[in-house]
Amino acid sequence: MKLAEEYGDVFSLRWGSEKFVFISGHKMVKEALVTHLDNIADRPVVPLFQKNQRKFVITHLRHFGEGRKTLELSIQQESIFLCDAFKAEQGAFDPQFYLNNAVSNIISALVFGHRFEYHDENFRNILRLDAEAVLLSGSARTQLYNAFPRLFDYLPGPHQKMFANYKIIVKFLKEEMRKHIEDWDPSNPRDYIDSFLLEMEKRKSDPEAGFNIETLLVAMLDLFEAGTESSATTLRWGLLFMMKYPEIQKKVQAEIDEVIGQSRQASMADKPNMPYTEAVVHEIQRMGNIVPLGFPKMTCKDTVLGGFFIPKGTSVTTNLSSVLKDKNEWETPDMFNPGHFLNDQGQFLKKDAFLPFSAGRRACLGEQLARMELFLFFTSLLQCFTISPFPGDELCLEGQLGFTYAPKPYRMCVISR
Ligand code: HEM
Repeated sequence: MKLAEEYGDVFSLRWGSEKFVFISGHKMVKEALVTHLDNIADRPVVPLFQKNQRKFVITHLRHFGEGRKTLELSIQQESIFLCDAFKAEQGAFDPQFYLNNAVSNIISALVFGHRFEYHDENFRNILRLDAEAVLLSGSARTQLYNAFPRLFDYLPGPHQKMFANYKIIVKFLKEEMRKHIEDWDPSNPRDYIDSFLLEMEKRKSDPEAGFNIETLLVAMLDLFEAGTESSATTLRWGLLFMMKYPEIQKKVQAEIDEVIGQSRQASMADKPNMPYTEAVVHEIQRMGNIVPLGFPKMTCKDTVLGGFFIPKGTSVTTNLSSVLKDKNEWETPDMFNPGHFLNDQGQFLKKDAFLPFSAGRRACLGEQLARMELFLFFTSLLQCFTISPFPGDELCLEGQLGFTYAPKPYRMCVISR
């Protein structure tokens, strides 16, 4: 953002042997992602999702409940487990692990066909290794590894620990795959793995399509990580902001009491009647800013942007942070202010510069799922509890940058309502 102030909303810099173009500010990012929809749609070097897989994931998420009642039920049920786990805590505790497990259980149900108990030691370990790998992937040394892979293959450092963690995670995923292959019934796909196996079978004669065990593994890992870390980190920001601003927490609870009460669970049908809560969740995402630079993209055509020529095959980074904190779009860009998303009558106000999920051809695939998770988990927690920091603890709103921008670990006390 500092460089953008000096060099403008479109500038480039060299990273190893590669040139990167950085795009900042709401106007220019929107132009890049939406106006030039088909131009900046590839991924450089490590494609997170090949085109075929992306299509498959979209169809699959729809089929297995994205935006549908089953998914809502699964989040509602998980909310009960989560609230029970919080209730059982005596004194101050760090909610990170529970939130990760709860959120990953939603994606686990989609991908593996089942959830994991919070006390499942094996799964706890996987979540811990994954969280560590995600943090390490943001370390300067690991970034350097991406620029100079051959050199760093031989050097010790955090990237080696990251690889070691992924090795164990991959072993765990392979075990889940093995169990699926063992009792696979092609006429009755139960989850993502089963559907992928079916697609592999159908496309056996077309190896170019890219449906094989390796791509299944990569796609699973991506889905699992993308679907766990991001929503859980956002919820962690959410609880932190609610501790920091107890008067905002109280207003959310007042709305919950008025619209839902204490005798039933929150549902998606409540959302339109809860503009204040909806505004708070949006503000949590804006301030949390968990994917500050989006994921790297690459031009698939020659493109002219802001008067600059960007050749086909150039790596492009859209600075989402500069959009979420754009001085021209937000009244108090650096201050937590649910009013950003409310009109004078207190109704929810959509904002064009609200781009935490990015936009265009490569936008987040899990946006609908994530929105459901954030609304239902957040509302359920504040329906059950009033949360506060451990007396004497200083709350730090400065995060740490790994693969996502996340709060530093904190302790929290809960009082049942
Ligand atoms: C609060 C939660 C979330 C946020 C803020 C978020 C944000 C993002 C962002 C910024 C991107 C990159 C888009 C780009 O490069 O332009 C992305 C990609 C992606 N997200 Fe999310 N995400 C969230 C939750 C989820 C969930 C729950 C899933 C699970 C299904 C998911 C799956 C994906 C996938 C698969 C991609 C890669 C898409 C591609 O490469 O084509 N995300 N997400």
